[in-house]
Amino acid sequence: MPSSSQSTSATAAPAICLDKVELSLGAGAARVHILKGVSLNIGQGEAVGLVGPSGSGKSSLLMVLAGLEQANAGTVAVAGEMLTGLDEDALARFRGRNVGIVFQAFHLIPTMTAVENVAVPLELAGRADAFERAAAELAAVGLGHRLDHYPAQLSGGEQQRVAVARALAPEPRILVADEPTGNLDEDTGRQIMDLLFAAQARRGATLVIVTHDPTLASRCNRTVRLRSGEIVSEELLAQAGTPA
Ligand SMILES: Nc1ncnc2c1ncn2[C@@H]1O[C@H](COP(=O)(O)OP(=O)(O)O)[C@@H](O)[C@H]1O
Ligand SMILES: [Mg+2]
Repeated sequence: MPSSSQSTSATAAPAICLDKVELSLGAGAARVHILKGVSLNIGQGEAVGLVGPSGSGKSSLLMVLAGLEQANAGTVAVAGEMLTGLDEDALARFRGRNVGIVFQAFHLIPTMTAVENVAVPLELAGRADAFERAAAELAAVGLGHRLDHYPAQLSGGEQQRVAVARALAPEPRILVADEPTGNLDEDTGRQIMDLLFAAQARRGATLVIVTHDPTLASRCNRTVRLRSGEIVSEELLAQAGTPA
């Protein structure tokens, strides 16, 4: 099977198209050439696991396709928008419309309650029902009884549920997660991934996950392996959180 093919479960239109992407970060002598000619197509509704050794560029690639970093060369098209050349404001608007992001370390705002955290992207999107929607999203991840708790009053698994609810609330077409289970025990991590895969299946969202966990990677439709900033192999998997 050609490694560049779309997932069998995805529709024809690619959600993410990277072509010969180069990324360097840092200044002067500390500048690092991180991504070295990465080309990758991901289909709408596909679940892709990014794997590879520490330092191979997985997080950097995720940042580029989520619109958090600008490639230095090559082209990046996501959800039908060309990100190449967009300024910071335009990239932020793009993310708000299209991308939900979950990090390993949760990244909740500590001075806001759970429901306030989840409402943030909805308010930025101008939703009049931001708090009602946020409460419903928290109920959907099993936290309907924790709306007014602050992050410090929640367990790690609960904080990650809040982060998942925040990512899902604006109904983005693209979901990205960087080692979302890395700080959690196995059972709690699996519950978090169940939530992400369920959202992918229910909404036909595209899911890109960085992970070291082979069990988690095996739930994806495809894994893409990086080494030293290059894609070195891809593996199509039988099934996973396959969209209906
Ligand atoms: N802001 C940065 N400035 C300089 N180098 C960076 C920066 N971010 C990441 N790097 C370097 O880029 C390489 C890839 O990092 P990263 O994408 O985080 O890898 P991974 O997620 O696979 O562990 C590493 O060598 C890392 O040190
Ligand atoms: Mg990383």
